[in-house]
Amino acid sequence: MNINKLRQDFPFFQKTLNRKPIIYFDNACQSLRPQSVIDAVVNYYQDYPACGGRSMHRLAAKVTQKCDEARSIIARFVGAKRKEEIIFTRNTTEGINLVAHSLGLQKGDIVVTSDKEHNSNLIPWQILAKKIGIIHKIIPSREENIFGLEGFKKVMNEEVKLVSLGFTSNLDGVTIPASEIIKIAHQFGVLVLLDVAQTAPHHKIDVTALDVDFLAFSGHKMLGPSGTGVLYGKYHLLEKLEPFLVGGDTVVSSTYDSHKLLPPPEKFEAGLQDYAGIIGLGEAVRYLEKVGFENITEQEHTLNKFISNEIVNIPHLHIIGPEDPSKRGGIVSFYIEGVDSHQVALMLDESANIMVRSGQHCVHSWFASKKIAGSVRASLYFYNTQEEAEIFVNQLKKVIRVL
Ligand code: ALA
Repeated sequence: MNINKLRQDFPFFQKTLNRKPIIYFDNACQSLRPQSVIDAVVNYYQDYPACGGRSMHRLAAKVTQKCDEARSIIARFVGAKRKEEIIFTRNTTEGINLVAHSLGLQKGDIVVTSDKEHNSNLIPWQILAKKIGIIHKIIPSREENIFGLEGFKKVMNEEVKLVSLGFTSNLDGVTIPASEIIKIAHQFGVLVLLDVAQTAPHHKIDVTALDVDFLAFSGHKMLGPSGTGVLYGKYHLLEKLEPFLVGGDTVVSSTYDSHKLLPPPEKFEAGLQDYAGIIGLGEAVRYLEKVGFENITEQEHTLNKFISNEIVNIPHLHIIGPEDPSKRGGIVSFYIEGVDSHQVALMLDESANIMVRSGQHCVHSWFASKKIAGSVRASLYFYNTQEEAEIFVNQLKKVIRVL
């Protein structure tokens, strides 16, 4: 992979701050976008800025056709059997909430998650526990924050209605053995929802091979426009689910006291959609496939290994997750005893234009349980370079010296 050539596709890399380049290491939050994605969005607004799925005129027909094309691209991208299994959402959070509120969970139903879930896969279950009395069980991780498979096996039985897990953690980059987990869950007839927000940008996902029931991800972490996302669901399950948002373009017909819902995916896509975002997301997938997942993971691992080896021996610095960087994807998340993570992040930015995330990364529950105030998180993507990694490491060492 020729990284310098790929970087030319991203207009952001021509930008400077105080006449110095910007090092963007906050990809787990949002990635950068190639020109082709930006063009797709701009073209929509300039050339055919109409509604999809409603009006009959030619501009509207073009919107419908382009969104349909994006749906097909994404269906193929995740290995779905049919494009109707792809529901457009605003983000992973919305996808998880859709499942949580539409599955028809009842008092006493058990939902299983892990102790490292993002708030998006924690708070919906806490609310349902309070509102309707579901039972939320949390599987503790093993050493090095690895998924507790044995603990998981112990809680599985027919009373469990849903297993909902982050495939790759935004906290430390660890990926869980999803295939094995799904097989075990299915032995008890339990449905599985995977949050793949941190997986889909980096690895090939195949919903059919995984046999996963629901899958949620975001477009903005994988080169797509902000506020775009996807929920995949097996078609026969989507047919049974009640939508939790209803309104425009979700029904075949209505009278003053009744309505007939459209089939999936339309019944879940209420109101005017983010057409520009959907079309841009299709374009992002095209670009990602051109780069290729092998190239993506190889570059992330190379940089993660370099950074981890350089910082692991800094006194009082602790990397969260496994010692082996190849088990942490593109994420290097660390804390330094007695040092405020936000202060480190701000100093990296102000002194060298290095953008990292700091704090608790929406996994407050994990930090609270470990009594750790927060971490600095460098999250890498295929367009980051060795030179950027070296600047980061050198600058981090300088910042630590003056703190
Ligand atoms: N979940 C996103 C992150 O980890 C926002 O930064």
